[in-house]
Amino acid sequence: MTQDELKTMVAKAALEYIPQNAVLGVGSGSTVMKFIEQIGINKVAVKAAVSSSNKTTAALEAIGVNVVDPNKTEPYEVYIDGADEVDPNFNMIKGGGACLTREKILTSMAQKFICIVDKSKLVETLGKFPLPVEVIPMAREQVARTLRTLGGDPVLRKDCITDNGCEILDVHGLHITDPVALEQKINQIPGVVTVGLFATKGADIVLYATEEGVKVLKRN
Ligand code: 5RP
Repeated sequence: MTQDELKTMVAKAALEYIPQNAVLGVGSGSTVMKFIEQIGINKVAVKAAVSSSNKTTAALEAIGVNVVDPNKTEPYEVYIDGADEVDPNFNMIKGGGACLTREKILTSMAQKFICIVDKSKLVETLGKFPLPVEVIPMAREQVARTLRTLGGDPVLRKDCITDNGCEILDVHGLHITDPVALEQKINQIPGVVTVGLFATKGADIVLYATEEGVKVLKRN
């Protein structure tokens, strides 16, 4: 089975987590694109959605879903999104698609984060995937210096300006044994908009696709 097929499988399984008659939070990335595709194919009713990127908004609107402004929405029940890495404690690295800030905002508004991935995203320790950090452009070099003192090797993502007009530093070489502490530390650096560590508020349910079907992990 290809990774693409696994992504489609988990995207389909996520349909049953869409709440009826409530706003749905929708993330970004190729797995989420497949999820949106499945909503369209299966004609699943979505009352309204809040979206984590311009690309997601366009895809939702193309299948007729009403996308609403998070400022005009109350905290809501379910947010569905992919991840770049997930550890056994439901901590995640996100931001491979450069949408981490809006993803974190929507995560903070949701009661439940449902993470949809293929099995290749499950890791013992976060950090093999370079950690994305969104930065205000004029702070980039100073943020990079500070990240080096934390043991990372930050690399500016080429040709990438986020939906918020910012840049991304991808931090290589980290072995993240305390994700909550590192998330808080990096968030404190002046000029950092968001770090792609989702640990203070991680996933609540992880659906991961394998050749044997979709498995479900639930936080106790
Ligand atoms: C985008 C993200 C994505 O969820 C993450 O990059 C996973 O993407 P994909 O589903 O394409 O593997 O965080 O900012």
